[in-house]
Amino acid sequence: MKIALLGGTGDIGEGLALRWAIAGHEIVIGSRKEEKAKKASESYIERLENQGYSPDIKGFENGKAAEDADIVVVSIPYEHMESTIKGIRESFSDQIVVSPLVPMKKVRGSFVYSVPEKGCAALELRDLLPEGVSVVSAFQNVSAVKLADISKTLDYDVVVCGDDEKSKKMIMELAEQIPHLRALDGGILENSMMVEAMTPLLITVAIKNGMKNLSIKFI
Ligand SMILES: NC(=O)c1ccc[n+]([C@@H]2O[C@H](COP(=O)([O-])OP(=O)(O)OC[C@H]3O[C@@H](n4cnc5c(N)ncnc54)[C@H](OP(=O)(O)O)[C@@H]3O)[C@@H](O)[C@H]2O)c1
Repeated sequence: MKIALLGGTGDIGEGLALRWAIAGHEIVIGSRKEEKAKKASESYIERLENQGYSPDIKGFENGKAAEDADIVVVSIPYEHMESTIKGIRESFSDQIVVSPLVPMKKVRGSFVYSVPEKGCAALELRDLLPEGVSVVSAFQNVSAVKLADISKTLDYDVVVCGDDEKSKKMIMELAEQIPHLRALDGGILENSMMVEAMTPLLITVAIKNGMKNLSIKFI
């Protein structure tokens, strides 16, 4: 599978790139600057080769990265999602687009969910993309730090939401190719709101209770 990570030079992009490259996928790092994407891909390749893997990772500007990919992950901060997608809208056709997006802000020492006009980031993303693109939300609650540390076992759950069952199943399978992650079907895309809202709570609980990089597990 060819997977493009828009803003794949950043924190969550790095972890997903490393983990899915290990699983044998063709990874394309996207960036606003092609040079930055190439530099990031070279550093990911070096890290993986040092561990004995043979990764297939390339770097391009975001639009080019999205063009031929089967799956595109919008791994950029929510504040820049709209301008980025509008700028490269013609690069999308019938891909599955994954939203790990979490709109949040800090209020009186706590992180709170910043409810978007349409209810959640994943619904906003869907409405910005051309018809034919299938939006699935996932990975909002996974710590990028732990994801990027490939020696770490990720014994967590990933709640996956989406309106197209086939696309959702595909992303659930992709999530489970990261060892020990369990993908759970979270229903339709509207439910992404609750999954997104969990992240500022995880961060607040971590800060207030002296914990670090929390994720979730349903028991
Ligand atoms: N960090 C986590 O633990 C975590 C966990 C779960 C979900 N998420 C979600 O995943 C998304 C990415 O988070 P992150 O922590 O990986 O973000 P990040 O590291 O802060 O940024 C990711 C990338 O976004 C691009 N970017 C920055 N400013 C931009 C702008 N003005 N316009 C377009 N692109 C811009 C940059 O790429 P270039 O400079 O190369 O263009 C940057 O490397 C967020 O929506 C976040 O809520 C994060």
